[in-house]
Amino acid sequence: MANKYNFDQIVDRRKLHSYKWYVKDNEISLSVADSDFVCFPEIKKSLLSKADDSCFGYTYVPDEYFDAYSYWWKKRYDVNLERKNFIFCSSIVASIDVVLKRVTSKGDKVLMLTPIYNVFFNCIKNNGLTLNESKYVYGNNSFSIDWEDFENKLKESKVFILCNPHNPIGKMFSLEEINRFVSLCKKYNVFLISDEIHCDYDYNEKKYVSVLKIDDSDYERLIALFSPGKTFNVAGLHSSVIYIKDDNLRELIQNGVYADDVGEPNYFAIDPVIKAYTLGEQYVYELNEYIKENRVLLKKYFVEKKSNLKIIDNDGTYLLWVDISYYGLSSKEFTKLLRQEFGVVVCSGEIYGDSGTNFFRVNLATNKTTIKEFCNRLMKFEERLKK
Ligand SMILES: Cc1ncc(COP(=O)(O)O)c(C=O)c1O
Repeated sequence: MANKYNFDQIVDRRKLHSYKWYVKDNEISLSVADSDFVCFPEIKKSLLSKADDSCFGYTYVPDEYFDAYSYWWKKRYDVNLERKNFIFCSSIVASIDVVLKRVTSKGDKVLMLTPIYNVFFNCIKNNGLTLNESKYVYGNNSFSIDWEDFENKLKESKVFILCNPHNPIGKMFSLEEINRFVSLCKKYNVFLISDEIHCDYDYNEKKYVSVLKIDDSDYERLIALFSPGKTFNVAGLHSSVIYIKDDNLRELIQNGVYADDVGEPNYFAIDPVIKAYTLGEQYVYELNEYIKENRVLLKKYFVEKKSNLKIIDNDGTYLLWVDISYYGLSSKEFTKLLRQEFGVVVCSGEIYGDSGTNFFRVNLATNKTTIKEFCNRLMKFEERLKK
């Protein structure tokens, strides 16, 4: 069947105040985790229709909004989400902030597996909390969990933030791993926040498992966060949900969301998301196919040009983690030179924690023209480094 959507179409995001494309004219950016594609047409249609309303006052979140999440998670992941357990929140980072503020006291430890999405470090620091890191063990081109270290650190922590799937290494956790996280949190009475924003990029064999899929999902300190932000590239609409089964915890967090003024949607945050989750399955299928092709293209270049950079095999997400250790430069130096000399902007690995210093992160959610240009420039940079 012919594809319905065209991901090759080039959108000049420099003109759109895009944070990712706020770069010089000669530079290309594969950094910030959003995508360069034309959005799912129903989203645009819905936005135009909302603009036509011409009256943009305060709005409530209708049941249809939460029903759309339930529909998507049931259909794609066989997870049952109940209406009463949802809380609207403007973004995932705002949700994490609200939760940390409500369940911790100054100085409490927050555990994360690192390297991890850099903004989580700010959430911990800005709330006067202490970072507790369990570093992934790197070997055989993949990252594994040091469970002994993890458990020891969990015992002394108040909260564990799980990035599921994991940015920047693209890891999808197995059912066994998810079970183990939850049962250990239960054992030590630790709050578990599971950020599942990258879940829909599942183009490989390993599939996403939600924390709500497991037997222990009734654990009263379990908090799941969902968002259409990455899947449908609508981070700019500020629309996401917090899902909590326990009534007391949910009430605490719902009040926190209102108190922090992140619980009321902007006028455009609701309808497009309903359209996306109820009508967008084919779009997301083709999107995943496109990302997969981009990865194949990139890997082929690396092999053909005998690159000394090593791509880490990701299970999902549109992010690729690349090992630069062959060149003996820190990630900061490597990415600085790559930008200065060849105009390529990627994310330096050390922003995701110390253990990221031999890596950079590249975002595959762009058209093939940009991927090819990236490969050409990167290979020229490698030629230069070899001299
Ligand atoms: C793992 C993860 N969580 C959260 C976010 C940000 O989400 P939001 O814009 O909803 O705060 C990102 C963005 O890159 C991310 O990678």
